[in-house]
Amino acid sequence: MVDAVIWDIGYLVSAALFIMGIKKLSSPRTAPDGNKMGAQGMLLAVLVTLGKMYTDGIIGYELIVGGLALGSLIGWWMAVRVEMTGMPELVALFNGFGGAASALVGLSEVLSRLQSGNVPEPGVELYAIWVAIGLSGLVGWLTLTGSLMAMGKLMGGFYIPFTKKDSRGRRKWVNFPTWGPPWLNLVKVAMLFVSLALVVLTIQEPTNTDYIYGLVASSCLLGILFVLPIGGADMPVVVSLLNSMSGIAAAFTGFVIGNNVLIIAGSMVGAAGLILTFIMCKAMNRTLIAVLFKSFGGSGRETVTRTKVGSDPEEVAMVCDGISTCVIIPGYGMAVSQAQHAVKEFADLLESQGVEVKYGIHPVAGRMPGHMNVLLAEANVPYEQLIEMAEINLEMPECDVALVIGANDTVNPVARSGEGPLAGMPIIDADKARVVVVIKRSLNVGYAGVDNDLFFEDKTMMLFGDGKKMMNELNSAMKEF
Ligand code: TAP
Repeated sequence: MVDAVIWDIGYLVSAALFIMGIKKLSSPRTAPDGNKMGAQGMLLAVLVTLGKMYTDGIIGYELIVGGLALGSLIGWWMAVRVEMTGMPELVALFNGFGGAASALVGLSEVLSRLQSGNVPEPGVELYAIWVAIGLSGLVGWLTLTGSLMAMGKLMGGFYIPFTKKDSRGRRKWVNFPTWGPPWLNLVKVAMLFVSLALVVLTIQEPTNTDYIYGLVASSCLLGILFVLPIGGADMPVVVSLLNSMSGIAAAFTGFVIGNNVLIIAGSMVGAAGLILTFIMCKAMNRTLIAVLFKSFGGSGRETVTRTKVGSDPEEVAMVCDGISTCVIIPGYGMAVSQAQHAVKEFADLLESQGVEVKYGIHPVAGRMPGHMNVLLAEANVPYEQLIEMAEINLEMPECDVALVIGANDTVNPVARSGEGPLAGMPIIDADKARVVVVIKRSLNVGYAGVDNDLFFEDKTMMLFGDGKKMMNELNSAMKEF
């Protein structure tokens, strides 16, 4: 009895650490402390659970220690190998792992109960436990396969192992499919009903494992079907929704195994992910239903046939001389080329000449929420200079130079029209500035695969090349000017 109170107090402290940690994440200044608090809460939850299991009497520690060692090894291996640009895919994969872990715990609980004959008589207890098991499986498996699809889409495709390498040493590359005929929506809804019906059947016939494995299969298929048609600029919404679902699956699993801290932590991840999903929807000017059923993503990539003569850094340095305002608009290419420090140096050079410099941050720039904020914070850009899209757009008509570094979809004026994968998505109005400088390697399309008129406007100067290299050349030209 005393033990039970101690464990509950331990869980309470760990839940309090999670809540205070999330609160601290709301400001960039306190976010590192918030992160630490969350990690401490999780460590405490693990220790309390191990202690609880020790006093409750468990079969053995071999599997737990083996699992911890294997998981830590895989986590360490992935963390040291991943490039900064691979983080979004890794986050998508971790969402999937979270869903799979919850689903596996639910599955092992039901199988062990069947094996030991510990199935409650029909009544409230059976309904409560079996509904939780069914829903943790449905949401967990769906999250796993949906996240794997999302990961493949973020990578754009994959290399086929053992195929012959080309002259650049790369194996055969297969593009990841984005496919969504209108009738697929009917199939998705039908599969959802089939999965829910299987949950009901597992309650009616708890000992029939066919229904349980049927639910695993239908949930996995549902995850694939839901993410298959989504592509282009709508991926951020899907990734944050899957993040939320991994939390919801964990909360259901908490009910299954009667673990309070899992219920609390899962609900918090579920709620935080859902809030982020709606923020992303707002940023994309979409409803969640529209993202899930309308397939805005589009499947093709436009081929650019137009040409534009590139400028050189000296010309751009000349244009920047004597200006009073500059808005820097970063995008995915800044992350790829790791140009954030060179960008900060450019801003410092302008500021030393009395130019007012601000950064226009699009909510879905890059490949993960807050991608640009993190990179610019790493380069010590003052947080006050990072201005949200709606606010910076009010200033764009008065802006002398808009420097677009590695951004494409988020500044593509075609989004203002009613057509194509970017239709209706709010953009940063770079095209309203007096002069636009765009740094990227070519005229190629961005993530959504849409050609960009901004590059071909008379007032746009293209600096073709790797983001960091071009920024460094521009900085040198500015110093010499
Ligand atoms: P994108 O539209 O993806 O365009 C990035 C541009 O960077 C490319 O056109 C590419 O052009 C350029 N680039 C790549 N490597 C470069 C390098 N080394 N140096 C210089 N430029 C380089 O970027 P965006 O404007 O940030 O838009 C983000 C897109 O990703 C949106 O469609 C968004 O919906 C989607 N998305 C976002 C998220 C989140 S949560 N942020 C998640 C998934 C998807 P070149 O090849 O010509 O260099």
